[in-house]
This record gives sequence, structure tokens and C-alpha cells, in this order.
Amino acid sequence: MPDEKASPAPSEIVVEPAWHAAWLPDAALAAVGRRRVAVVGPAEDDVLVTVFREAERATAAHGGDVVDPDGAPDLLLDARAGGDGFRLVRDGGRVTVAAATATALLHGWFHVVRLGEAAFTGPDADERHAPAFALRVLDHWDNVDVHPVMGQVERGYAGGSIFYADGRVRDDLSRVTAYARLLAATGIDRVCINNVNVHAREARLLTDDLPEVARVAAALRPYGVRTHLAVSFAAPMTLGGLPTSDPLDDDVRAWWRAAADQVWATIPDFGGFVVKADSEGQPGPFAYGRDHADGANLLADAVAPHGGVVHWRAFVYDHTQDWRDRSTDRARAAYDHFAPLDGRFADNVVVQVKHGPIDFQTREAVSPVLAGMPATRLALELQVTQEYTGQQRHLCYLAPWWSENLGFRPWGEGGAAVRDVVAGRGPGASPAVAATGGGGIAAVSNVGDDVFWTGHPLAQANLYAFGRLAWDPTLDPAAVLDEWIGLTFAGQDGAVEPRVREVLHAVLDASWRTYESYTAPLGVGFMVRPGHHYGPDVDGYEYTPWGTYHFADRDGIGVDRTRANGTGFTGQYPAPWRDVYEDLATCPDELLLFFHHVPYTHVLRSGVTVVQHVYDTHFAGVERVREAIAAWESLDGRVPSDVDARVRERLAEQLRSAVEWRDQLNTYFFRKSGIPDTHGRTIF
Ligand code: GCU
Repeated sequence: MPDEKASPAPSEIVVEPAWHAAWLPDAALAAVGRRRVAVVGPAEDDVLVTVFREAERATAAHGGDVVDPDGAPDLLLDARAGGDGFRLVRDGGRVTVAAATATALLHGWFHVVRLGEAAFTGPDADERHAPAFALRVLDHWDNVDVHPVMGQVERGYAGGSIFYADGRVRDDLSRVTAYARLLAATGIDRVCINNVNVHAREARLLTDDLPEVARVAAALRPYGVRTHLAVSFAAPMTLGGLPTSDPLDDDVRAWWRAAADQVWATIPDFGGFVVKADSEGQPGPFAYGRDHADGANLLADAVAPHGGVVHWRAFVYDHTQDWRDRSTDRARAAYDHFAPLDGRFADNVVVQVKHGPIDFQTREAVSPVLAGMPATRLALELQVTQEYTGQQRHLCYLAPWWSENLGFRPWGEGGAAVRDVVAGRGPGASPAVAATGGGGIAAVSNVGDDVFWTGHPLAQANLYAFGRLAWDPTLDPAAVLDEWIGLTFAGQDGAVEPRVREVLHAVLDASWRTYESYTAPLGVGFMVRPGHHYGPDVDGYEYTPWGTYHFADRDGIGVDRTRANGTGFTGQYPAPWRDVYEDLATCPDELLLFFHHVPYTHVLRSGVTVVQHVYDTHFAGVERVREAIAAWESLDGRVPSDVDARVRERLAEQLRSAVEWRDQLNTYFFRKSGIPDTHGRTIF
């Protein structure tokens, strides 16, 4: 008999993977891992096997045990009970998690992991946990090939794709499974694995490359994550050789039906298609004089027999606009195109709406489309990848911003919120919308093959927070951050050093507002460099076809979107917002320049003028970044050295960039207005 003490514990012989553990280091499993855990359910279910393996992994690392259900477990995981989501019962320190499906049980397992010791030591309880949204999707803007302009991951700031390398699906997909594990721990259960801008190579994922897509699906499946594909509306022509892609053409309809049949024959639990049509050069139904409902219903019909869903994006506008034309307003476009189609979309179509009417800006109004289509399943689309919010070089914890959008009440105080609308519970929701639970939520992922997954290690918090808000949009962003810190920075005993927790809150809680303060002011949007969208260029888009203008002149700045004198965009909102935004006296200052063109001397509620506000916030923003750096440096050895080194490198760039933003913006506003800073600070 070998000496038991001499044989290494399983946790010591595990080969460390080549990527960071993010929010699931083995240390985060300490509380469950010390217990006796039992798992029951249908043994042939892949996801149940995963639950079992998770229990084995945790207990092997921390000295607990996997036991039979009748072996007096501290934690019983049971996949045989009914209902939505999972039920957690704590009775005298003994915990039972019960669910109808293995995937829901897996979510329950990770819930217990997240609670840590409190899962077992809390008061007796009987709770039901179910996700607020039936559809919780992460979209990857990944290309198979490296695109000459956009790179492999469009708007990706974390390296190449985790799915593809060398022009095809990666041979080793173990990282994809690790990704699915991270997602399952937040509650995300669907992933679209290719870019909404579907180039020629990627279009073939739908047909020739299906066996390869099936391999990705197989890598995601053990953690209950289903696969979706972005498809090109022109596929019947480019892949099928048909002379048209007209949605009302019989051959086109037959082509899509056959394509969908083949997809589900290859991947029986496939989720559905994502489509960007007639937007920024992508093909769509307009070419045939058809509308978006015709286009979406064509695909919906093809996937319906398989229970599939079509996410059809509402991001449609004219990107070849003439800046001389003051009557065209990009903010109006999505509503103008889609609201008249309400009621015409099939029940398995989800119209996916960006949170703002422009494009994922640091601050913009909530899209009125979300209040204008009660007979359509709507999904809220967010951007976890930080295209306009610092590109994972700047700290910008986005959960407070998302939370504001989810909690926005389009019909005013006491009315439904956006989170209700996308759960199928908005006012006047049609029976079909209510019955399906709405369109849920989707976001563009910030993940790549970077060792930390997200470039900036602290940008992991955004991915985690998106998943948690997709499960429960009422969660407090600071509490979500606290969970993330608790898991990610757990020490061997499962606990986090208080100073680490304190500093992470200090640098992240308000980081979105800090970012806003040194970039584009008062909701004006788009002052970034054209193309890559990083760094300041106040007039970069001012005379371009993209429809993103601020109209600064020597007297004032802002876009007049009123009904009285402007583009009439305010009229797309229901009361009270149509009037609140219309009136300069009631329009919130943070969106002032989104709705109004005002003189630089306009006085804000804070008592300072617009131009002074620009100076004050830009000076203050840079100071906040310096404070974040000092706070981080005070951690001095309390976080792993690789994380520390990467964060320091990013913070240095954030400071350089924030100073650049401050100086360019302040100088621009000073030169335009000729009004000096009342505090006499240096403006160039
Ligand atoms: C933004 C982004 C594009 C992207 C587009 C979209 O405009 O810059 O890269 O394709 O959004 O959401 O489709």
C-alpha cells in the first residue's frame, strides 16, 4: 500500500491551462468543495455528467467527497423536480438544489458556489430562482479568417477568436468548453459564434462547414450552452446559386428550409439565426422591394419546425447620409423602419434592438423602439466589448449603465421598465409576446484568445455582470461586482482579502462615470477617431456620411431633436418622455446635447455653464484616473503578479489617453467658444 499522504492530491496534478481562471479558480469552490455532495438525475444527460464532474473537481480540490444521495450529503443536487429554474432548500445547514433539467441544476450548482459558506450557514430557506429572460445570448463578432480591416474579431480587444484559427474551427476546443463553463456560472445559455457582418468565408458556416460548427456546439453543450449562427440574407445566391434572395420567391423559401433542415439534422439542439440585414452594406430584403418583416419571416418559417428562433437586428439606418442634409436623423431610423411593422413578425422572430438609437455610446437616450412594438418580441442588445467605452484599455465597469437602460421606464414613473418589455410584460403586449416571454437580452462578447480572456483583466467583470443581469436585471451592479470579486480573487480558503475587495470597488464601481467625464459630454456622443473609434477626434465624424454629428459652432453645440424645431425624434417616445425630452427646462442634463442645441453659456442644473461643465469634468476625470492608479498600486503584492502587471500597463495607457481626451476636448471648446475656464487652469 503506498503511503496515502505521499500521493499528490488531484488538484496538484492538474496541468494548469494556458488561460486565466477568471471567476472560477478552484479557490472559489472552497465552500462546496469541503462538503459531502450528492448528484442525482438521468445519468445519460451530458450536462448532468458535467454537474457530477464539477462536484468531483471541487471536492477533490478541497477535501470533501462525492457521496450517494442516501449518504447524508451536505449538498444534494437533484435533477428530477419540476418547475422553471431551480429551487434551493436549506434545512439545518443541509442544502438541496432541485431542478427539472440538468442545465437548470448546473445553474443551481454555480449559485451555491457563488454563495460560498453562506450557502450552508444561512438561515433555513426555500427559494425558487428562475431567469428573468428566456433568451440570454452572447454574440461573437468573430471571423473565421482575419479580416483585412477589422481583424479576426470585429471590435475585439482581447486577441484572436477562441473558436477559429488558421482559417477554420480550431482543432483543440477545450478553451471553448472552459468559456461555456464561465458562462454557465452566470446563467448565459446561448452563443452566436460568428460576426453579424457575414463575409464570404463565414457565410459557409451555414452549409459546407456544418460539421465544424457541430464540433463547436459539442464543446459548448456540456455546460448547457446552445449554438447560434449569424447568416447572410444573400445566402441563397452566394451559397445556393439562385438568381435571387427575394423573401417571397418560392425557390428562396425552399432553399432556406432545406438549409435549416440540414443544420438541425447536424446539430439537433441548435438555437437559431442572427441577421443583420440592409445595414451598413449587408444584404437584405430592400433590394426586392420587401420589408424587414418579409425578410425575418422567411427565415422564421424555415427554422420553426425545429423550434428555432431568428434574432433580426433593428440596427438599420442610412450610412451614406449627406451631412448637409439637416432633416435626416440617424437616431430616428430604427423606429421609422420597424415600428410600422409591429404585429407582422412571426412568433419565433426576435427583433434585437440596440439600447440606444445611435450606437452603443457611453451615454445616449434609450431606444424608443423598445416602447413602440408591443406585438413584437423585442430583445435588448448591449455591448460588452468596449468599442466606445475604452476598448479594454480603460477601466469601465458597464453594469451601472446597463442597469439604467434595463430599469428605464418608457411610460414614466410607475409604468413598465425596459426589462419588463423584453420579458414580454410591456403594456399592451400581445398574447404571443406574453406567452413566449419576450425576446430577452443579447450582447456582444468581449472575449478573445488573450490569456486573461478580455485584454484588461478587470474587463472580465463586465462579462460576468452581463450574465448576471441577464438572469436577474434587478440586481445591484455593485453587488454583482462584489460577487465577481469574491469568486475571482478568492484565496485558498475561499475568502478575499478585505483590502483587495475595497480597492476593486474603488477603481470599478464608478468607472463608467469617470470614463464619461473625460470623453464626450452631456450625451453628445461620437467624438472618437473614425474607423477604430479609440481616442478623441471631436470633428472626426462631423462631415461624414455616418449621420453622427454634434453641430458645434462658435455659439453652441448639440443636436436639436425636438418636434418644435428639430428632427422630431422626441415624438417617437410615449408620454411623459416625449415632453420631458422636448422641453429644455425638463430634459435631463446628462442627455442635454442629445436632444438640444444650446449655447455654451447655457446654465445646467449644477449652476455651471455647458462650457464650464466640459472643463470641470475633463479636469476631474483625469484626477479620478490618477486616484485609481494610486489605489491599485497600494495593493502591492496582494493580487497575482501577472494580473497586476497587465492592469498596471492598461492603467498607464488609460491615463495617457484620458489626458489626451482632456486636452483636446478642452482646447476644442475653448477655441470654439472663446470662453476661458473660470478656474484659470491650463488649456492649450
Ligand atoms: C457598430 C460597429 C460595427 C458593427 C455595427 C453593428 O457600428 O462599429 O463594427 O458592425 O455596430 O452593430 O452591426
